[in-house]
Amino acid sequence: MSSMQSWAEAGPASSGSPGRSGAPLCNLVYRSRAVNDLSAGQLRQLTLNSEERNRRESITGIVVYDDSRFFQWLEGPRDSLSRVMCSIRNDPRHTDIEVLSERTSSQRAFGAWNMKLAAAGSGRAPWGHEMIEAPSDLVCELRLRPTSAPALLAKLVPERRPAPGTEPAGPATGHDDAMLGGSTAQTLKQVILTALSQATGLESGVVRLHPRARELAELLVEADQAAARELIEELNRAEVSITPLYANLLEPAARSLGDLWAQEGCSEFEVTLGLCRILAAARLLGAIEPPHGGRETSGATVLIAPEPGELHHLGAALDEDILWRAGWAPQCEYPTDDRTLQELVSATWFDVVDLSLSAAFQRADWLPRLTKSIADMRRASRNPHLLVVVGGRVFVDRKASAAQVGADLACTTSADIGRLIAQAVSGQRARRLDA
Ligand SMILES: Cc1cc2nc3c(=O)[nH]c(=O)nc-3n(C[C@H](O)[C@H](O)[C@H](O)COP(=O)(O)O)c2cc1C
Repeated sequence: MSSMQSWAEAGPASSGSPGRSGAPLCNLVYRSRAVNDLSAGQLRQLTLNSEERNRRESITGIVVYDDSRFFQWLEGPRDSLSRVMCSIRNDPRHTDIEVLSERTSSQRAFGAWNMKLAAAGSGRAPWGHEMIEAPSDLVCELRLRPTSAPALLAKLVPERRPAPGTEPAGPATGHDDAMLGGSTAQTLKQVILTALSQATGLESGVVRLHPRARELAELLVEADQAAARELIEELNRAEVSITPLYANLLEPAARSLGDLWAQEGCSEFEVTLGLCRILAAARLLGAIEPPHGGRETSGATVLIAPEPGELHHLGAALDEDILWRAGWAPQCEYPTDDRTLQELVSATWFDVVDLSLSAAFQRADWLPRLTKSIADMRRASRNPHLLVVVGGRVFVDRKASAAQVGADLACTTSADIGRLIAQAVSGQRARRLDA
């Protein structure tokens, strides 16, 4: 169902028990964007007015305001909800209204609150009873996964439901206090925990995350190598596979950092720092998992380098790590400019050059630069049939292809780099034998 009209069409709710007015209960979650950023006073007035009308209409719920974005949970009798939602849709203070879920329900989640505003950082402001502070980890998750708002807002349900008509002493969010706070380390930890919960298929959310997986992610992010190593060894002894963490956690975490930056949730410096932490985690996992060398490496010589000028080296480092562990002997260099890269390929014979852009940022505006680096490198190369592999987020998100930048292959995950190179080298050799 995608609109309030759809409830009317659906007929009486079979599972909904009567609300205060005797009508079946429904709930609806939507998101929208403020036309102009609202001041604290404007938000307060909006909430007080909403509270008053909601009381008359038997509506309860919560609205989260963060960075000009609203996420609102409304619940109550169907007809009341339709009327209020109709007003909300016509309100010129916000736009891009998108309903994320509509359900009938047997009970209220926010029965004590006719409307509560949860705003990030409101703990520092002189808010009244109508406002609570939105936990920073929840705000961070909303930015990363806005369409998961129904599940995320549900985390704001007060744990102890007060008697009707009384205000709760304070909202119990169910979140671990240690996860709150706006510091870089906390933001990074949250990003990685979110990626971890998605990557491993564990129940998402900080509170219910598998205790050992969460512990490991925290140790990796905090770069507490000794403790993380101990834990991984313990998990190994218990035969818990760490391979999915290595293959699926690190790259998505890097992209999550880039997304957070794009949504102005962290600085570029924090992204770079986060990528260093992810790299440290990769090194640790790589060092502990035994190499599985002896595979077909084609005897090919491989140069791995970030695109000259690219400060994000995670992609190159992961490729190097994975190739080494698979039995290759790649040479990894960090050329500061195109000339240095050209000198490298003209001084030494390489079968393959693996050039990468940021694993976190799109870098679409770097494509002309990458194209030129590849063309100049091919001209300077001692090997006239040099195979060029490109990597980076722009290729993962399919915003560019290998052919577009003059490369032979695009690698979308480091886990695939060995297989891709081996295939390309043997394919090229077969073609040259045929010719
Ligand atoms: C993000 C947002 C959330 C709102 N939430 C409510 C609400 O929960 N209840 C409500 O009565 N009005 C809410 N309003 C205000 C309504 O849009 C509207 O101004 C108010 O209900 C008066 O409606 P009317 O002009 O149709 O009389 C909200 C407005 C915005 C921008």
